[in-house]
Amino acid sequence: MALIIKRPNGTEDVIPKNINKWNTVENTARDVASMYGFKEIRIPTFENTELFQRSVGETTDVVQKEMYSVIAKETKFTLRPEGTAGTIRAMMQNGLLNEAMPQKVFYILSCFRHERPQAGRLREFHQFGVEMAGSSLPSADADVISMANDIINMLEIKNVELKINSIGCPKCRAEYHKALKGYFENKKDKLCDTCLSRLEKNPMRILDCKSPVCSEIAKDAPLILDYLCDECSEHFEKLKSYLDNLNIKFKVDPKIVRGLDYYTKTVFEFVTTDIGAQGTICGGGRYDGLIEQMGGQKTPALGFAMGLERLILTMENQGISFADDMQCSLYIAPMDESIVPYAMKLAAELRSSGLWVEYDTVGRGLKSQMKYSDKLGAAFTMVLGENEINEKKAKLKNMKTGEETDIILDSSFSKHFSDIAIGEMFDEVLENI
Ligand code: HAM
Repeated sequence: MALIIKRPNGTEDVIPKNINKWNTVENTARDVASMYGFKEIRIPTFENTELFQRSVGETTDVVQKEMYSVIAKETKFTLRPEGTAGTIRAMMQNGLLNEAMPQKVFYILSCFRHERPQAGRLREFHQFGVEMAGSSLPSADADVISMANDIINMLEIKNVELKINSIGCPKCRAEYHKALKGYFENKKDKLCDTCLSRLEKNPMRILDCKSPVCSEIAKDAPLILDYLCDECSEHFEKLKSYLDNLNIKFKVDPKIVRGLDYYTKTVFEFVTTDIGAQGTICGGGRYDGLIEQMGGQKTPALGFAMGLERLILTMENQGISFADDMQCSLYIAPMDESIVPYAMKLAAELRSSGLWVEYDTVGRGLKSQMKYSDKLGAAFTMVLGENEINEKKAKLKNMKTGEETDIILDSSFSKHFSDIAIGEMFDEVLENI
């Protein structure tokens, strides 16, 4: 029989044999986050559509083309296309921005964008992201970039380039917009319809249009770095010196403008060439105007997000090993049903000491139990029959070497399972059944 309904295009299942990859990446990111003093935040999967229109921006590809929105009971909601807007909303709504600054949070969440699926580009994908509010200083930029860099290094990912740029503040951006308008005005007839409307409202967005014609035209457009005001320029210079100070290699790439409207000053991306066209594994920057724009006090902020699927894909392509899952320590094979209560009780005791222990719960014969134990990857298998119970003796089979050890079913049993103190439990188990 064939499966009638399959998963939607651009979504993925993570089956148990791959979950260690996710755990490796998420645990590493969590560890690094705590080393930098970031605390976890969890936010809703959907928000009022207006939140993204106001923050991510009406003229962005994300808002114009990629959002999953529904109207429910006359209110328009959208599945979050990214984590920053919802996180900042939550920080504001819960009063976090009234506490001592900086406020630093991280999140691991799913995002939804209706893009054309390809390797490393999904319609539901996952991000590890951080947001820091309350510092306007370039040292905060350096700290956040250093954190992303540490995660990438701790995962042992290679061939990654950090690209940084400054896209200025509203003051210098006004001048830049004028220059961009002038440049694109002459090429108006070649631009796509979306970009034509962007020309009036937000010409910078033309720079990250995905249409081949628009991106070809955008190649020779004026560069924002030539229009930075003194303050933005100084901020950028200081950031560069801090990154040098931390020995973090970077390349200034004046073409990085990011696809979301809230950015100001510093923007950055970590890019690898090892996963094809969608090589940006991390993107972020400063967004000093967003909190005020959302109705809060003027509060500088910044952050980044990493695509978990892209990190995993990079690690797979680079042959990096993932942390192993826990191993099954013992498979107990009862000879017949009358022995099951012993097996059950013994398993319960060993599990309470933190071991992964299994016994037959499907009524297999002894031979197929041994096969199953092998499949499970159990370190040891122990056959329990009436003789074993009566004589308090059993054979412990090392599944790797095939070697069998006679063991006494008493407290000494525990020494076969290194570093876990099982204590006197075996005597007790046998006595209490
Ligand atoms: P973003 O660049 O749109 O930024 O996304 C961040 C990362 O999410 C990307 O670098 C990429 O690794 C991953 N990503 C994006 N779209 C997809 C997709 N369709 N499939 C798979 N992975 C994807 C943001 O979302 C900002 N909120 C980051 C930020 C946080 N800036 C400041 N704070």
